[in-house]
Amino acid sequence: MKKSWAEPYKIKMVEPLYMTNYDERKKFIEDAGYNTFLLKSKDVYIDLLTDSGTSAMSDRQWAGLMLGDEAYAGSENFFHLEETIQKYYGYKYVVPTHQGRGAEHLISQILIKDGDYVPGNMYFTTTRLHQELAGGTFVDVITPEAHDAESEFKFKGNFDLEKLEQLIIEKGANRIPYISMATTVNMAGGQPISLGNLKALRALTNKYGIKIIHDMTRVAENAYRIQQYEEGFEHKSVAEIVFEICSLTDGATMSSKKDALVSIGGFLALNDYEDFEEARNLVVVYEGLHTYGGMAGRDMEALAIGITESVQDNHIRARVGQVEYLGEKLLNAGIPIVKPIGTHGIFIDAKKFLPHIAQDKFPAQTLAAELYLDSGVRAMERGIVSAGRNKETGDHNYPELELVRLTIPRRVYTQAHMDVVAESVISVFNRRTEIKGMEMTYEPTYLRFFQAKFKKL
Ligand code: F0G
Repeated sequence: MKKSWAEPYKIKMVEPLYMTNYDERKKFIEDAGYNTFLLKSKDVYIDLLTDSGTSAMSDRQWAGLMLGDEAYAGSENFFHLEETIQKYYGYKYVVPTHQGRGAEHLISQILIKDGDYVPGNMYFTTTRLHQELAGGTFVDVITPEAHDAESEFKFKGNFDLEKLEQLIIEKGANRIPYISMATTVNMAGGQPISLGNLKALRALTNKYGIKIIHDMTRVAENAYRIQQYEEGFEHKSVAEIVFEICSLTDGATMSSKKDALVSIGGFLALNDYEDFEEARNLVVVYEGLHTYGGMAGRDMEALAIGITESVQDNHIRARVGQVEYLGEKLLNAGIPIVKPIGTHGIFIDAKKFLPHIAQDKFPAQTLAAELYLDSGVRAMERGIVSAGRNKETGDHNYPELELVRLTIPRRVYTQAHMDVVAESVISVFNRRTEIKGMEMTYEPTYLRFFQAKFKKL
């Protein structure tokens, strides 16, 4: 019999939520230009915009905040954080940053030269932008199954190693400063890479002398999928698998706001001393001194404790169990979602949900707005708006995947909240034929999905 994923904690403090009515929501979403990023959080009932910085901290983490050593230089909490990263992830050197993109900025500036290529297992918005700003071109070399919402391949985060090797031969290894390897792949629907594929990637990159930089934002969730699905790992702990993943890479960027259970923070971790020296120097220009990099001492303490909690088997099983609970409810109701179910959220296939809306009329953006209108549940577009424009032609990028992400914060909502979300998605699905697309009325230059505005057609 399948064992329940019930939470390994109980609730000590609650935050009241306010319910809105349909007429209020109609006004709020119109005022927000039909972009859920522009809603006020007080007008949201269940907030599934992101799992970033939205998790609940434990009593230990809150207690850790009181141990903040707010010295400008050499804070005690930095050394605790450094020690924790070395222990659980195995990287030698640590540079704290205010969040993940701070680390992406540093590593891109340090390793990428104008005209370089950066291959990766699908792009992430901020990661790719920093690679481009440094003069690089991102090349997607993820396994083809990742672009197919229907494929039930268990490791859609894998690299297509043949495609990668062709690219290396074509462009020359000296034009490829590193491989951008993410655990799990957010834009593919929270899909994991297997250790087998990562080992083969390591062998290939060793052959050509190319580094692997690991976007380890959701590494524990990826490790859990390896434990569940990859042969030979069923008896290893998540912590052991996390360590092994990291050991196959040369460095990492981390947005601690996800896996690591804190509201803010990140870091760049490296094994190469020279790269570290450069990062430690550059961080003082953009983030802060190298022993805080934009984080308060108390936040580094909460992060050190959060890392320890994030790799516990009980924690990760309940976390992913809750996401699967919602995913299975939607699948049972015939809602088209990306399969297999992702580890940090459910990704609704908007092309299938609203097949009558052309991609340049923003089906996923439309669906996210409709969901808010229906119930006050806030989701996020992950499709043509997020994909931005082609650097050369200026036309929209048209990604295969046109998705709405229901992202589940860690340790925050209950099973009953998941039921409400499922009911709302099903109710919008039942009246899907009445829904019309939108046009964009305002488009910012960078990462347009955050601030773009729309109107209904
Ligand atoms: N890499 C991945 C895979 C991410 O999901 C994110 C952030 C980042 C890097 C950047 O980190 O936000 O701390 O600067 N993802 C958030 C999300 C924003 O909602 O998926 P950051």
